Amino acid sequence: MASDLRRIGVLTGGGDCPGLNAVIRAVAKSAMGGGLEVIGIEDGYLGLIENRYHLLDRKSVSNILTRGGTILGSCNKANPASYSVPDGKGGWENRDVRDMVVNNVKKAGLDAIIVIGGDGTMSGAAKLVERGINIIGVPKTIDNDLCGTDITFGHYTAVATAADALDKVHTTASSHHRVIVVELMGRYAGWLALHSGVAAGADLILIPEIPFDLDKVATYCMDRRRYGKGFTIVAVGEGAKPIGGEMFVDEVIKDSPDPLRLGGVGKFVAKEIEKRTELDCRSVVLGHVQRGGTPTPYDRILSTKFGYHAFELMMEKRFGRMVVQKQGEVTSTEIADVADKVRTVPLDDPLVRAARSIGTSFGD
Ligand code: F6P
Repeated sequence: MASDLRRIGVLTGGGDCPGLNAVIRAVAKSAMGGGLEVIGIEDGYLGLIENRYHLLDRKSVSNILTRGGTILGSCNKANPASYSVPDGKGGWENRDVRDMVVNNVKKAGLDAIIVIGGDGTMSGAAKLVERGINIIGVPKTIDNDLCGTDITFGHYTAVATAADALDKVHTTASSHHRVIVVELMGRYAGWLALHSGVAAGADLILIPEIPFDLDKVATYCMDRRRYGKGFTIVAVGEGAKPIGGEMFVDEVIKDSPDPLRLGGVGKFVAKEIEKRTELDCRSVVLGHVQRGGTPTPYDRILSTKFGYHAFELMMEKRFGRMVVQKQGEVTSTEIADVADKVRTVPLDDPLVRAARSIGTSFGD
């Protein structure tokens, strides 16, 4: 593939997930094979703002396919269009530092940048595309909540981790005749709880898209007891909320573009079931374990396909586009069309219907 591109950058932004290194590897090896120089930008957009980057060579991208995390580092705070800096009065203020980034990109001699990230990173990318930076996006996140694509890499590895944890609490819940509530990540979308809950046969799956009724949740647990099932497993997405209630916010991180960190719904649900039923209840928060580990073979393949397609788009100079997978086909869409949007679980999603049909409750 011929091109006048000489030197490209690659960065990973937002919360890390398994498969990032596999994408970096696919992009870098393809680009090096095409005679390009590849620069690794450190810690996402922060590296662009602070001029932190280094040359990648074949050795640095070798043997990383199976490694979790990212060899480049990541950051879910720095958005160049709205970069939080101390205001000198003990608080924070947001500044647009895109002009500085444009200069830094010129200074670094980067003809294009492959930006690997989730919704926050793509929103940042859309704002840099407006300033003429040549960007190609690659969608990652364990949450699977990016618009325009049916799947983000990293999601199904997190599903495997979460399903394994749900499998493990099954045995202890069964031994002790308990209700165990497992709180899973996913932010405002229930994909992770839905997919892992179905994979592990959770009895109740509570997701942000379907507010739950605590009385119905409690009755469901009691009915199971009455029908001879002494235990119940509840998979709850961190963004789930009771009917008429709010999401549970654990922390507000002031210098983050998306400052809310969710958490607490699992403990709340367990306590409320206990109050209503006197069943013995426990809760566990799986947390960042879901972001770690080696990518599954599925995610290694998806990451490799995504990384290669990002390289193809770049060589064709189709800048401002994000790689996507639609109905099994890897293609692309405008970053501007997907930025600042969240893809949630449709209420009539085929898996929601299948789960309901086999007796899984969504607490509604
Ligand atoms: O977006 C990925 C994610 O892991 C969410 O599921 C979770 O809500 C959030 O990031 C946690 O963010 P942090 O790494 O800042 O704690």
